Parts: sequence; C-alpha cells; structure tokens
Amino acid sequence: MLVYLKIYRYNPEAGRNVPSFDTYNIDAHPTDRVLDLLEHVKGNIDGTLSFRRSCAHGVCGSDAMRINGRNMLACKVLVKDVGTEITVEPILGLPVLKDMIVDMNPFFNSYKAVMPYLVNDDVPADGKERLQSPEQRERFDDTTKCIMCAACTTSCPVFWADDQYVGPAAIVNAHRFIFDSRDQAGAQRLQILSDHGGAFRCRTAFNCTEACPREIHVTQAIAEVKNAIIGGIEH
Ligand code: SF4
Ligand code: FES
Repeated sequence: MLVYLKIYRYNPEAGRNVPSFDTYNIDAHPTDRVLDLLEHVKGNIDGTLSFRRSCAHGVCGSDAMRINGRNMLACKVLVKDVGTEITVEPILGLPVLKDMIVDMNPFFNSYKAVMPYLVNDDVPADGKERLQSPEQRERFDDTTKCIMCAACTTSCPVFWADDQYVGPAAIVNAHRFIFDSRDQAGAQRLQILSDHGGAFRCRTAFNCTEACPREIHVTQAIAEVKNAIIGGIEH
C-alpha cells in the first residue's frame, strides 16, 4: 500500500528555524510500524531526520510522538491502524530541539521532585527482605508499569498551560511509592504534591489515560493521590 507520510521538521542549527513539514510517498505493508517508516526515511532518503528510539518493542518509552494528532509510541502503531495518510509530529508542551526530539529535562525534573524511589532505613530484624502480602503488592501494581514515555504528561492541557504542574507521569510514579507498604516517605511525597503544581492542578480531562501505551489508569492514580492528600494513605 502507498502511504502519504508527512513529517514535522525543525533544525535551527541547519537553518530550518521555522517548523515545516516534509512529505513522502512510501510503499509500506499494513503491518509495518510507523517507526519502520521513519527508519526508512532516515536510512534511505534523508539521514538528517531525527527522532528518539531504542528498544523498538514498546519497552523503553523513548519514541513517544504525535501520530495523526494523538500521542503514541511509534514502535507500537501499525500502518493499518492509522491509515494511509500519516502525520508525525513531536509531543507537545516541551521545547523542540530538532525534528521529533524534545527537551525532556522539565519532564524528568518533575519526576525527580516526587522522590521516585523506595525510602526505608529500617533493616528487618532477620536481615532479609521486607515482606509484603500479595494484596499490599497489588495496591500499586498498575503504576509499576510506567515506562516514562511522557505520552500522558504531554497530552495534558493543564501541563501545556502551566509549567509549574508536575504532570501525570510524575504523579503516577509518586503513586507507585506512596501506596507501597514498605515505603516511609509517603507523607513527604503527599506534601510535595499538595503544592500549587501538584495533584490538584489535574482537571480530570482523561487525556492522560487515553494516551498511555501501558494502559495505566492514570486519572484514577491521580485521584487516589488527591484522596490520600485529604484523607491519608491506606495501604
Ligand atoms: S503513565 Fe503511561 S503515558 Fe505516562 S509516562 Fe508512564 S507509561 Fe507513559
Ligand atoms: S522504541 Fe522503545 S518504546 Fe518504542
């Protein structure tokens, strides 16, 4: 099948300091992924095309981009699922550096701000692992699936409008530890997320949940964090 591919281009270092689109007609299979089309352009037509990717199997989270207006991982989207006219653009709300490559520093700074790691200084009496029941593990299972692709945060209209908002991904990763019965810093994280740029900036648009390639219930996780700020943590 012939695919009409339209790709966002921006490269101030090479004089392309006004965003524009390059277009290509590409012979593709219905089961090709959009990432395959981008690799084809880069490898055979224009080696200056720039985008991030690593695993090509939906695991590393590096190739989130807007495909026909929606945030997706290019390695998980098949041509047959998006049609024969495909527009590829960078994710929104982060500064574009070159083509599909955005500056991820604001995103990762918000992630770091919520302490996305286990805090527990107590060593168990037997010196072995910290025990947890299957039910306690289940409590935060959904949010362990995050691959930090930023598809949720960069689909959020509050994030686009307010650079103080930490965004859905940071809250998802805070949730993962807040509801972990072994962790001891839940109150600190809730304090951080009760600030101006925290969980209550969420307006429940659900864009994040729709965008998540891991099918994490992002809006629900944010709601649970809001409830914990008000009513405390239940493990
Ligand atoms: S919650 Fe989903 S969309 Fe958001 S960063 Fe994690 S994997 Fe990506
Ligand atoms: S390249 Fe790793 S998730 Fe797509």
